Amino acid sequence: MEKLTAEQYVESLLEQDAQLVSVKESIRDKGMPEISIAPGYGKLLTLLVKMNGAKNILEIGALGGYSGICLARGLSEGGKLISLELKQEYADAAQQNLREAGLGELVEYRVGEALNSLEQLESEGQRFDIFFIDADKGNYPNYLEWAIKLANPGAIIIGDNTLMHGRSMDPKEKGNAVTKMRLFNEGITGDPRLEGVILPAYDGLAIARVR
Ligand code: DHB
Ligand code: MG
Repeated sequence: MEKLTAEQYVESLLEQDAQLVSVKESIRDKGMPEISIAPGYGKLLTLLVKMNGAKNILEIGALGGYSGICLARGLSEGGKLISLELKQEYADAAQQNLREAGLGELVEYRVGEALNSLEQLESEGQRFDIFFIDADKGNYPNYLEWAIKLANPGAIIIGDNTLMHGRSMDPKEKGNAVTKMRLFNEGITGDPRLEGVILPAYDGLAIARVR
């Protein structure tokens, strides 16, 4: 038998998850981008929500609801997820998938430019215990700044795709998105308001705690 990669081996240990398989099918059927978070990282989202005892979660970038399900699964009684999504059709798909997973009551979608929604959340006085950033890469440093502003003490900030398929560590790559991602990564690991790390498996997952 062919030797597995570390990622394949670890995935082989994870139970098949019928709800998440169904989300991936719906994303494919709708012709949406097949870029949901890696299975092990989805499991990690659920665990971080549980370990933090998070009540209020903010997700930036809903896509088809795969990560939304993983986040909402970790919530305890009275917890809720607010999910920001640029596209109405993606928010609708995500909402349907969370409903089908029995989690529809826990989530509120806000459609449009995330930077506008973040300003609105600030004006409402909303604060969060967990943030999951998985949207347009050129705005990651802005989203990080907003997350710190809207964080309860001890909040956790998570970001997907910090390696950008290797572009983050390729000095020849000088475009806007990758430059902004490097700034984000430097903030996650070096900002004095945070304590953070980047997991280099898959496309790189950032995890930081707000001091
Ligand atoms: C890609 C993957 C992602 O998880 C994402 O959020 C954006 C883009 C990609 O593989 O291109
Ligand atoms: Mg992503």
